[in-house]
Amino acid sequence: MTTPRPRSSVFGASFTDDALEARVQAGSEKAETLLHETVHSTDPFVAEAAAHLLDAGGKRFRPLLVLLAAEFGDPLHPDVVPSAVVVELTHLASLYHDDVMDEADVRRGAPSANARWDNTLAILVGDYLFAEASRLTASLGPEAVRLQAETFSRLVNGQIRETIGPRDGQDALEHYLGVVADKTGSLIATSARFGALTSRATPEVIDLLTEFGERIGAAFQLADDILDIASDSEDSGKTPGTDLREGVPTLPTLLARRSTDPADAELVRLLSGPIHDDDTVASVIATLRTHPALEEARGLVQAEADRARELLHQLPEGPARATLDLLCDTVASRLG
Ligand code: IPE
Ligand code: IPE
Ligand code: MG
Ligand code: MG
Repeated sequence: MTTPRPRSSVFGASFTDDALEARVQAGSEKAETLLHETVHSTDPFVAEAAAHLLDAGGKRFRPLLVLLAAEFGDPLHPDVVPSAVVVELTHLASLYHDDVMDEADVRRGAPSANARWDNTLAILVGDYLFAEASRLTASLGPEAVRLQAETFSRLVNGQIRETIGPRDGQDALEHYLGVVADKTGSLIATSARFGALTSRATPEVIDLLTEFGERIGAAFQLADDILDIASDSEDSGKTPGTDLREGVPTLPTLLARRSTDPADAELVRLLSGPIHDDDTVASVIATLRTHPALEEARGLVQAEADRARELLHQLPEGPARATLDLLCDTVASRLG
């Protein structure tokens, strides 16, 4: 079957069906309202700090996945929108903490919480958001609570393993792919699982969509790693080269480090640790942008997105499946 041409594009998703688009639009608007209600606090400072990144923007990729996965059950079930809010809040909490870890100054085109206030406040506000996400999860029942807890545990384990680095003798690329699966794949898989669970889809569909989320989640993070080198801050809302400054290994840098070309010797040396000097970061970015490792990394992202897409064949055919199929392209090329 060939996928019908998309008629419109919202939130980076392309829709081939007006009724689906209208349902996703309505679900997103409800999720937006509930997000703001959930982070609200009677303390004016907490209210402002907690809404800071929410108001700054963001793609809302995880809630979108919840809403699309819910199309395989009853998309209007009242548990669907709260579960979309749970995953976005869990994500948001992780961003407050991630920017402390990565010493990032800019997020969603705004000053990060650690830059605007300080590390202590950024950590505490992240904790507050996570607590509010957990409170909302409780309204969805014990299975949802377990799922969110297991997901956050995996996410944090991924962040810890990224910080610690590979074990003695462990292949750096293998370590990295494990980190990617846990720090990012986990919550994106859970977004798809929540949509399927809360809409009361069948157990087979729930598991299939979870596996789809794992795959598209890995592709999403691999693409994000490429953007750290290939995109400008106006597009990403983040400071390019943050991973280089922190010495966080990413797909393109791990591939470049495998080069045995003598012309790459200096690059390989620089990529073995954090790069502190701004001019050196800029020159490494310029070198990597034309390096074969970047193209190789793009190919691996595409392969991961294709693995996600293949799983879709086992789902019932229809507009939701077509939109998930198109989403694989969007994630691989990060157009939307
Ligand atoms: C950023 O996630 C962190 C990663 C897992 C790559 P997003 O790219 O979804 O960030 P927002 O929500 O759009 O800001
Ligand atoms: C994303 O980490 C993973 C989490 C936030 C859990 P990154 O450090 O790769 O993401 P960005 O590039 O800061 O968004
Ligand atoms: Mg980061
Ligand atoms: Mg990070």
